[in-house]
Amino acid sequence: MTAAKVPPLKGRPFLKWAGGKRQLLEKIRNFFPSDRAGYTYYEPFIGGGAAFFDLQPERAVINDRIGDLAVLYRVIQRSIDELLELLEKHRVQNSRDYYYYIRNQDRDKDRYAEMGDAGRAARFIYLNKTCYNGLYRVNRRGEFNVPYGRYKTAPLYDEANLRAIHRYLASNRICILNGDFADAVQAAAGGDFVYFDPPYHSQNRSGFTGYQAPGFGKGEQRRLRDTFAELTRRGVSCLLSNSDTPFIRELYRDFEITVLEARRAINSDAAGRGAVKEVLVRNCTG
Ligand SMILES: C[S@@+](CC[C@H](N)C(=O)[O-])C[C@H]1O[C@@H](n2cnc3c(N)ncnc32)[C@H](O)[C@@H]1O
Repeated sequence: MTAAKVPPLKGRPFLKWAGGKRQLLEKIRNFFPSDRAGYTYYEPFIGGGAAFFDLQPERAVINDRIGDLAVLYRVIQRSIDELLELLEKHRVQNSRDYYYYIRNQDRDKDRYAEMGDAGRAARFIYLNKTCYNGLYRVNRRGEFNVPYGRYKTAPLYDEANLRAIHRYLASNRICILNGDFADAVQAAAGGDFVYFDPPYHSQNRSGFTGYQAPGFGKGEQRRLRDTFAELTRRGVSCLLSNSDTPFIRELYRDFEITVLEARRAINSDAAGRGAVKEVLVRNCTG
């Protein structure tokens, strides 16, 4: 008798991320390319990468402005064993005091630079899983400043899942960038697909748009719309998520808008945690 072949595990998103798309995926999937090949997939605001890891395209350019996030994805792609070893050390030593010791490593810039990519990547996952609410927030000096979250039971990492993510990132053509969204889509050409999931526009300032100074205000939303329009002229298929506000509807009035209902878990204001309406904007070049 021959043993049945077990298909390899498909990697799932592994970070807690504000604005993460996990719960809207069922709906967003309908607007994504139906295949994984034949085009380059761009996601210039990658965050926790819920949509990207769901689709797992064969060719992709992913990007985020947070330097350590790009470092983390690169380390998973190239040095998974070293990362897992360091994560195990964090797991064993986790405590409130240990958290603040690790968190404060970025206060000394020279020592932080010497830490190496795998060390920075393991620190990123450790802080993400043990800090308050999985928030990512740095002060003006770029120092991570979220307090300890006191999570005793949540596992720090899932080795099988991180190895599955590694296999995917290492065996496909995945380019990982760290810069501004407009630069990240420079090379997109006719037939390619771009998914924009930016910090959302907030009418009342209660929505979480921080992540990192200098924030993402109306001027940035306009610059993003200009990038969306420019890609449309170049024949690139684009899909964009944002909140359903009059400002966003006005910005994208020349494009197709679909309204979705979402539940928000990470929001600094409890009033912002109920059901909220979001839009999906498409340019329909195909
Ligand atoms: C809404 S989150 C993306 C969530 C992600 N799609 C997920 O599923 O977890 C927005 C991301 O945009 C990044 N970001 C903010 N401003 C940026 C910019 N100008 N260029 C590139 N990335 C930026 C933030 O660091 C954050 O990770």
